[in-house]
Amino acid sequence: MRQSLIMGNWKMNGTRESSQSLCAAIMAGLNENDKNIVICVPAVYLADLQTLTSNSPLALGAQNVANQEAGAYTGEVSATMLKEFNCQYALVGHSERRTYYGDTDESVAERFCQAQKQGVIPVLCIGETLAERENGETFNVVNTQLDAVIAKAGIGAFANAVIAYEPVWAIGTGRTATDEQAQEVHKAIRERVALQDPVIAENLQILYGGSMKADNAKGLLAMPDIDGGLIGGASLDAQSFLKIYHSI
Ligand code: PGA
Repeated sequence: MRQSLIMGNWKMNGTRESSQSLCAAIMAGLNENDKNIVICVPAVYLADLQTLTSNSPLALGAQNVANQEAGAYTGEVSATMLKEFNCQYALVGHSERRTYYGDTDESVAERFCQAQKQGVIPVLCIGETLAERENGETFNVVNTQLDAVIAKAGIGAFANAVIAYEPVWAIGTGRTATDEQAQEVHKAIRERVALQDPVIAENLQILYGGSMKADNAKGLLAMPDIDGGLIGGASLDAQSFLKIYHSI
């Protein structure tokens, strides 16, 4: 039985002070039996938030991870470094990375492998643009992004990974995929993984991301192949984020 997972993606928001108060406000809404709730925070705030979240059910994640282990890679943060701050998850291939910073299917696959090598669970983000959806290319695009990682990491790697389906047209736009639109793609992703390993596919957590809010989360999370959410905007408000978490 798959467990649900709710992840916040703070992106490049907040200050040192506000990140700590947001984190504290989320923690205040959790009890000790809660689990499977994660915040992906700016890397520079990891140290503060590691201290704040120790002994808390709230786990930490990074928004990206380097595609190399160590060395002359200016500006990058390695999986080993993330691990030092008890970062349990790292997003890889978020559409904003792919669009603005040139992350390719190949480098995303490398990032995925680097994270996993250090015991950081990679959260592989995949999804189509509006133009791709309108051209009927959704499944091709998602399959290509997924296949690139399977080819490099091997299907076995997905026993310890998460996939986030995030249609680019729904990210930060207030335009959410309908429950059925999202379910259709989630199901296809699971089926694609199942072609190679049905057991891994059955256990794989596939999250939906793209304008998930307190008022639409329930319907999305009730779909059979939607195992949780990757939440941007609504994760910057503790009450909204908690409401989504509690709607599971
Ligand atoms: P959003 O972002 O919830 O603001 O649409 C989701 C994401 O980019 O992970």
